Amino acid sequence: MDANVKAKGKDTHKPEQTSALQYQSGFGNQFASEAVAGALPVGRNSPQKPPHGLFAELISGTAFTAPRHENRRTWTYRIKPSVVHRPYQRIDNGLIRSAPFDDVEATPSQLRWSPLPIPQAPTDFVAGIVTLGGNGNVATQTGMAAHIYAANASMTDRYVYDADGELLILPQQGRARFVTELGVVEAAPGELALLPRGLRFKVELPDGPSRGYICENYGTALRLPELGPLGSNGLANPRDFLAPVAAFEDKEAPCTLVAKFQGNLWAAEMQHSPLNVVAWHGNFAPCKYDLARFMAIGTVSFDHPDPSIYSVLTAPSDTPGTANIDFVIFPPRWLVGEDTFRPPWYHRNIMSEFMGLVRGVYDAKAEGFVPGGASLHNTFAAHGPDAETFARAATAGGANVKGILPEFLKHLEPPLPTKEKVVITPDLQTRKAMMLSQSDAFVVLPGGLGTLDEYFEVLTSKQLKVLGKPFVVVNIEGYFDPLLALLRQITSHGFARPDIHDLQHIVPSADAAIETLNRLLQPQLQS
Ligand SMILES: [Fe+2]
Repeated sequence: MDANVKAKGKDTHKPEQTSALQYQSGFGNQFASEAVAGALPVGRNSPQKPPHGLFAELISGTAFTAPRHENRRTWTYRIKPSVVHRPYQRIDNGLIRSAPFDDVEATPSQLRWSPLPIPQAPTDFVAGIVTLGGNGNVATQTGMAAHIYAANASMTDRYVYDADGELLILPQQGRARFVTELGVVEAAPGELALLPRGLRFKVELPDGPSRGYICENYGTALRLPELGPLGSNGLANPRDFLAPVAAFEDKEAPCTLVAKFQGNLWAAEMQHSPLNVVAWHGNFAPCKYDLARFMAIGTVSFDHPDPSIYSVLTAPSDTPGTANIDFVIFPPRWLVGEDTFRPPWYHRNIMSEFMGLVRGVYDAKAEGFVPGGASLHNTFAAHGPDAETFARAATAGGANVKGILPEFLKHLEPPLPTKEKVVITPDLQTRKAMMLSQSDAFVVLPGGLGTLDEYFEVLTSKQLKVLGKPFVVVNIEGYFDPLLALLRQITSHGFARPDIHDLQHIVPSADAAIETLNRLLQPQLQS
C-alpha cells in the first residue's frame, strides 16, 4: 500500500507583530462586556435611566420573531444614539458594485485575476474595494458579492456600515484592524474577520499597505456548519472564534459615516464618533478566527471527500442542505490515501466557486495562481487540476515518465517541469531511434503528421521484424478509420502482405489501450 503521505508541514506562520487586544471566546454566544465599570444595566435591557447617562439602543440582526436559535441581537449602551447624524448624501461608488450584476454578461469561461496592485495615492479600506462579481439581489437579501480590497491608509474620521450584507474579510497582505461599535477585532493574513450586517466600523492598517478578500453575504448570516456523522468536534471549533470587548471613542469632532445601502454608497456628516458604545450584551457581534486552528478532516482510505469537508462557515439558503455561501479553506494538511490522485478531481458544480490564495501554492494549480489573485468558476464551468499539476501528481504517484526530445523542439515544446527524465537528442532521427530501442510498447493517439511519421516507422519496423514490441492504436471516434482503410487498399492491391493488419492492436479508447497493454506486457513482467 502506498501510504501516499504528503508532508505539507504545520502552518507556523504568525504575524511578526501581534496586538495585545482582549477578546471573548465563542461563536454566536450571548456575550456581555463593559468598558466602564457599571455601564451595563443588570436585570433589564432598557432602564428609564441607564447607568452613566448612556442611551440604550438595540441592534436587531434578525427579525424580532426569528426563532431563538436564529435570533441575533445586541443591546448597546452609548454616549449618543445612532440616529444623531445629518441626512445622507449619495457619494461615488468607486469600484464597488452590487447584485443584480447585469452591467456586463456573465461568462461560462473560467476566470482568473492577478493580485490587485497596492495603490500609490492615499486610499482607505472603503475606497480600495474592487468588486469582482457575485449573484442574487441586495434588495431581496439573497446571494453574495466577491470583492478584493487594496489600501494604504487608515480610516480616522471616516466610518462605514454595510446595510446590504455581512462581511467576511480575509487579509492577504498586512493586518486589518476593525475598530467597531462593539470593540476592536484585528485580523492578520491567515485570519478572518466577520462583521455583522449594519455594524459601524472603521479600518486601520497597522502594517501600512494591506490587501485582502471580502465576501459580502446578502443572505442569512454565516454560521458553523453542522457536523453530522463527524460528531461533536472538528472543523472550526467554536471556542476559537474571538469577539471583542467593549471599547469606545469619546470623540466630539466632524466625522463622516458611509453607508452601503441598496448597492450604493451614501455619506452622512456627524459631530461625534459613531463608535461610542461603552457597554453591550448580545449575540450580534463581530469576531475573528485564526484559520490555522481549523481541524482539517480527510480520507484515510481512498478517494477525495467533497470539498465541503473543509467548510469553516456556511450561510444557509431557504433550501435545506443547500448553502447560499459555503466558506471553504484548503489549509496546510497531511493527505493520506491509496490510489488517490492528490489534487482535487475534475468537476462541474451547480455552485459558483470563487477562490483566493492567502499564501502558498494551490493544490490544483502549479503556476499562474499567486497569493492575492483570484479565480472564479461560474455555475457548471468545468475545472480541475492543470496539465502540469496532473503530470506532477502522476509522477509522484509512481509513474515513470521519460521524455525524448530533439534539441530544436526544446523551446517550442518544452518538457513539463516535473520529475520526468528528459533526454535531449541532436536530431529527430536520433530521437526516433532511441524511442524504438528503449520503449516497451507503442501507443498511438490521434495526432498530426509527426504522429503518422512515427506510426509508419513502428509499423514498418514490425513488418521487417526488427521490432517485436506491442503496438496499440487508439482509434478514438474512428479517427484512424481512413488510414486503416488505406492499409486494406494497400494489401488488397498486393503492395503489402496481408499480415500487416495483425501487427497492431486497434482499440477504441485509452482505457482499452491500458487493458490491452496490461494483457500483452503481463507475461514479460512475470518472466
Ligand atoms: Fe470546484
